[in-house]
Amino acid sequence: MKVLIIGSGGREHALAWKITQSSKLDKLYCAPGNAGMARHADCVDIEPDDIGTLCNFARKERVDLTVVGPEKPLVMGIVNRFQSNNFKIFGPTRKAATLEGSKVFSKTLMRKYGIPTAEFRSFNELDHAKRYISSLSRLPVIKADGLAGGKGVIVCKTQEEALDAAENILGKKIFGEAGAKIVVEELLEGEEVSILAFTDGSTIVPLEAAQDHKAVYDGDKGPNTGGMGAYTPVPIVTDELYNTIERDILVPTVHAMNKEGRPYKGILYVGLMLTSAGPKVLEYNVRFGDPETQPLLMRFKGDILPILLNVAKGRLETVDFEWDPRSAVCVVIASRGYPGKYEKGEVIDGLDSLAESDDVVVFHAGTASRQGRIVTNGGRVLGVTALGDDIQEAQKRAYDAIGKISFKGAYYRKDIGSKAVGYARIP
Ligand code: AMP
Ligand code: GLY
Repeated sequence: MKVLIIGSGGREHALAWKITQSSKLDKLYCAPGNAGMARHADCVDIEPDDIGTLCNFARKERVDLTVVGPEKPLVMGIVNRFQSNNFKIFGPTRKAATLEGSKVFSKTLMRKYGIPTAEFRSFNELDHAKRYISSLSRLPVIKADGLAGGKGVIVCKTQEEALDAAENILGKKIFGEAGAKIVVEELLEGEEVSILAFTDGSTIVPLEAAQDHKAVYDGDKGPNTGGMGAYTPVPIVTDELYNTIERDILVPTVHAMNKEGRPYKGILYVGLMLTSAGPKVLEYNVRFGDPETQPLLMRFKGDILPILLNVAKGRLETVDFEWDPRSAVCVVIASRGYPGKYEKGEVIDGLDSLAESDDVVVFHAGTASRQGRIVTNGGRVLGVTALGDDIQEAQKRAYDAIGKISFKGAYYRKDIGSKAVGYARIP
């Protein structure tokens, strides 16, 4: 099979690494890919949202399956475009991708179908939003309706901040049309977990739970990022809790999308807050999580390619894979300054000393090749991912590997996975 992966993050590198292990693979392309993906694939310089050019490329190279990493092309309708050309593609259609593309849509859906989530109201008029925010006795979370590059959710620490957020999004239109509406939502407390599931719209195949670390600094301090590290399995998610999540959230969501005439095929990512009143949905994503996919795929034993293909064909009845019982921890090395401004083009040293082993894999995100050297090319640069008999061992292996890698301005959290070992911090 010829496969095309769209995207250039750690998630896409992990997918490329896994797909390369398939006996069914003849040729792998990535658009645009990164320096790490170039080891497994031909990287072609096409941006993920350049749907027309991607479609032409798939036609020219006779690609058998396209796997979409990021949400933007999905929300723009890349799946519809490929399907109308009879090309197989893994991911939801435009109408189904609205689950991530519009928070007003997803919140309204959850309310309609009784899927547990934070209380909310939506607004398109600034005055009304401000009046409502001022009337609240508790601090809210303000969310731009559409895709805002990960910056559209403001967890407010003061009422002032909430009013400013509404003003910036609805009044000053800092996110453009993505901010034509906002959701004002109840702030939830608890631990966050990510649950991902393959689905073809009728069969649901959940993956094991993973936990992301969104905040930039240790101890979950500082602004939110795309994710600074993740681990799996998550001891706090017991079998009983997992069953509840499947019964009360995953199944009703897939069912609701069918009822709404938006059948969902692809990977469904549910971001949950485990509150004292049970698990509640914070967000849906219509794609693999990043970095969660990196530790998840380290533990995924089996051929992922037939699963991706069967989802694309709408035939997920039979799946064949197992979980490595060990734990996996992924620590993201970022460029200092991320999620704000940061430098690019810094030479990365030490990668060669980490010969790829079964237990430690360095997934690339923002990297590029320049004159034979690998340099930084983004905020999140590498995802150093390790397996271990328990979280502590996986953590130690990941941090030992990180000790061998260096570049100017390299920054990483030192406590990834520590929640699973009783909040102990790595010395
Ligand atoms: P989202 O993009 O909707 O996942 O939001 C990004 C992050 O904001 C989440 O991972 C949470 O850390 C936080 N967040 C979103 N909604 C809420 C909420 N209702 N209560 C508390 N934190 C939230
Ligand atoms: N790690 C969070 C996300 O993929 O959205």
